[in-house]
Amino acid sequence: MADAKYVIRAKNLRKSYGKTEVLKGISLKVQKGTIFALLGPNGAGKTTTVRILSTLLGYQSGEVTVGGHDVRKEADKVRSAIGLTGQSAAVDELLTGRENLEMMGRLYRLTTKSAKARAQELLEDFDLVDAANRPAKTYSGGMRRRLDLAVSLIATPPVIFLDEPTTGLDPRSRIAMWNIIEKLKKDGATILLTTQYLEEADQLADRIIVIDGGKVIAEGTPNQLKAKVGKDRLELTFSSVKEYQKAAKIIGDKSVDGAAADEYMLTMTINDINKDVAQVLEKLEKARITIASMAVHKPTLDDVFLSVTGKTKSVEKKETN
Ligand SMILES: Nc1ncnc2c1ncn2[C@@H]1O[C@H](COP(=O)(O)OP(=O)(O)OP(=O)(O)O)[C@@H](O)[C@H]1O
Ligand SMILES: [Mg+2]
Repeated sequence: MADAKYVIRAKNLRKSYGKTEVLKGISLKVQKGTIFALLGPNGAGKTTTVRILSTLLGYQSGEVTVGGHDVRKEADKVRSAIGLTGQSAAVDELLTGRENLEMMGRLYRLTTKSAKARAQELLEDFDLVDAANRPAKTYSGGMRRRLDLAVSLIATPPVIFLDEPTTGLDPRSRIAMWNIIEKLKKDGATILLTTQYLEEADQLADRIIVIDGGKVIAEGTPNQLKAKVGKDRLELTFSSVKEYQKAAKIIGDKSVDGAAADEYMLTMTINDINKDVAQVLEKLEKARITIASMAVHKPTLDDVFLSVTGKTKSVEKKETN
């Protein structure tokens, strides 16, 4: 039995399509009960990796186990332990949300009664009760994504794969999805998700690997990665040069690291978004300086690439898969 601490493992995983190698030796380990993020741009190899880990796709070399089971030799055992929500999901558009869930429940051999009960439970957890009796094709993007996830959870799998769970969602739906994912972890699941957003990996993940062109280019905890790419930045704009100069003086030259003269804008790095921003605002208010606008910039995936590789991320043709 493999080391039970790590529920998902891949060692030196390689995958080619014809002559093109798209995974060039990916290694990862996901600890039980944690959230692990696979972060990378379009074409990095995220979906390919998830499909291999979830037994849907073969590979050329490497070792891959889920729950201690080899994904090739014991694919059935792996399948019964996982839930998968992908970029192409298994919802029947013509059935209602409830029907989709109950049907999946019966596929997993739940009794009619427990399939109904589990469907109701998931509809409640995922805030889909009001829409439960409408065909899935009438759902909004966010509702549809929640239904996709709910359907994959019907059998309460201990290991969950989520391929870009929030791409294309508006901020509110994204946060709703984040809450759901955090609750799954609280309930004991081990989760591997893919994302193109550093912010999302930062919010959810205990550990992150960054992949690009089929290779791991960075890994660590969110804090370790963020420390590499630099801090959040606060940007303040003033409506006149006078206000701007007063503010620069008060905030102190040391923390002000740039100013665009025509816009009267000050930018500064901040360590703690909760404390530091409030402190700056308080200082300015005491001095009766009015701010025209204010923004906090978080490091992006681009910043990660820039700091790790010295260049911005490789741009591939936009794919929709
Ligand atoms: N069936 C296939 N045949 C040939 N090449 C493929 C196939 N599927 C994927 N690829 C290629 O493999 C590489 C990795 O694709 P993959 O779908 O894993 O990327 P991804 O990180 O999921 O990207 P996205 O963010 O766009 O979903 C890409 O260059 C893609 O073009
Ligand atoms: Mg993908």
